[in-house]
Amino acid sequence: CAVAAVIVARRVKFHSQKCAARKILVEFQEACDTSLLRLRMVVDAMAAEMHAGLVSEGGSTLKMLPTYIDRLPDGNERGLYYAVDLGGTNFRVLRVQLGGLEGRVINQEYEEVPIPPHVMLGTSKQLFDFIAKELVSFVAREGQDFRLHAGQQREIGFTFSFPVDQTAVNSGKLLQWTKGFKVNDAIGQDVVAALQRSIESLGHKMRISALINDTVGTLAGGRYWNNDVMIGVILGTGTNACYVERAEAVSKWGGEIPKSGQMVINMEWGNFWSSHLPRTYVDESLDNESLNPGEYGFEKMISGMYLGDCVRRVLVRMAQQAGIFGPRVPHRLLEAFSLKTPDMSKMHQDNNNDLRVVGEILNSVYQIQNTTLGIRKIVVEVCDVVCKRGARLAGAGIVGILKKIGRDGSAANGVIKRNLFEQSDMNGYHDDDPMQYTSDVKTVVAIDGGLYEHYTKFREYMQDAVFELLGEASKNVSIQLSKDGSGIGAALLAASHAEHLSS
Ligand code: GLC
Repeated sequence: CAVAAVIVARRVKFHSQKCAARKILVEFQEACDTSLLRLRMVVDAMAAEMHAGLVSEGGSTLKMLPTYIDRLPDGNERGLYYAVDLGGTNFRVLRVQLGGLEGRVINQEYEEVPIPPHVMLGTSKQLFDFIAKELVSFVAREGQDFRLHAGQQREIGFTFSFPVDQTAVNSGKLLQWTKGFKVNDAIGQDVVAALQRSIESLGHKMRISALINDTVGTLAGGRYWNNDVMIGVILGTGTNACYVERAEAVSKWGGEIPKSGQMVINMEWGNFWSSHLPRTYVDESLDNESLNPGEYGFEKMISGMYLGDCVRRVLVRMAQQAGIFGPRVPHRLLEAFSLKTPDMSKMHQDNNNDLRVVGEILNSVYQIQNTTLGIRKIVVEVCDVVCKRGARLAGAGIVGILKKIGRDGSAANGVIKRNLFEQSDMNGYHDDDPMQYTSDVKTVVAIDGGLYEHYTKFREYMQDAVFELLGEASKNVSIQLSKDGSGIGAALLAASHAEHLSS
């Protein structure tokens, strides 16, 4: 009888813990609403902010940075090129032999090294010396399969995935750090000159012929294979997008209108803000404890660096207010950024009936043992809410860009059909064009980044949102993974712009 009483008491306790936790879950779920109605408002806000950001400096939370890239690769690029890629958790160096239209990418090799935390938070000299050292030692291992043309020096495409105020295709000043970087003395510096100095201090000479954002590399890498690519998106540690704009629409830009009539714009959409975004207590506390409080709120709801921590913060509330992990809150659970998005994704996608992967991760990361199936199910649901919100917001962002460039189908009803190549090689018209087009033109969105590549549910939720928002028009839009496109893209842009610099 006493044993039965203990069992009943325990059941009652688990039941009330579960109820309290479920209440927290439901409240959070409601606050994370990404209904179609709300997403449509986000789409409109994104398109409106894009306009505003192109008109004046500081006109919007979107920086809408002109990249000085006014033509994209067309397949004719030839020769040996290097790319260095700084911006995520790893630093990459790549070499590629381009063979023109017949050969395309003849040969490529790359190396990836994790960036030591002291370099991400140290001094500018430490950071650029680190990059230069890795680059120089990679170049030294150049094999015979890779050949320079006579008289050619080594040309580098530098992918630097932070907001940069470009002054030319191969120079630009760092505006601010994002993601996990904070190297204060680099802000305001020309990052190309800084890298060049570090390379020279090692006794080497190479030319950095293009400075690009990773989104621009992805766009260029995608365009190399497919002419319909108009938008490049990164969904990885951070998130961002760039797209091909009519140069004339960039009214804040004082430069000469390029011959192509185009300009690639780095939106820095991570900093997008709108009152329509579903912001919660989780976002507020995460923002306060981040390296860049008050900034990049969209990125903090979407990207790989932050999703795991959003989940953790809900779990902390459940542990504190509903005691789901026992009488005391596990110490490590209180540590910011201790739950990484790859672990969140594994828990979310645990297909075992007993959710054993969830149990294993809670145990290995937080030493939380013996969770009930009911609690593990709640953990999975928290992951689902966070993943779905981020993915659907990213989808709305993409549709916002499509709307801005008149590719979302909204301009298609009963309007004039024109030859899309008639005016320029922009491949299309914009919503602010006097004449609209019938939307039978194809648009490809090239996406890169570990979050999109590896987190299947995220990818699916994002695609669903895009298709829901576009409806009929979605038949003309395709979203393609452009794996490592950004590295190749940097090399391709180095190739096309090296000729330009030499001429
Ligand atoms: C951050 C950077 C941006 C980059 C993105 C993806 O948002 O500010 O420049 O493109 O991360 O790496």
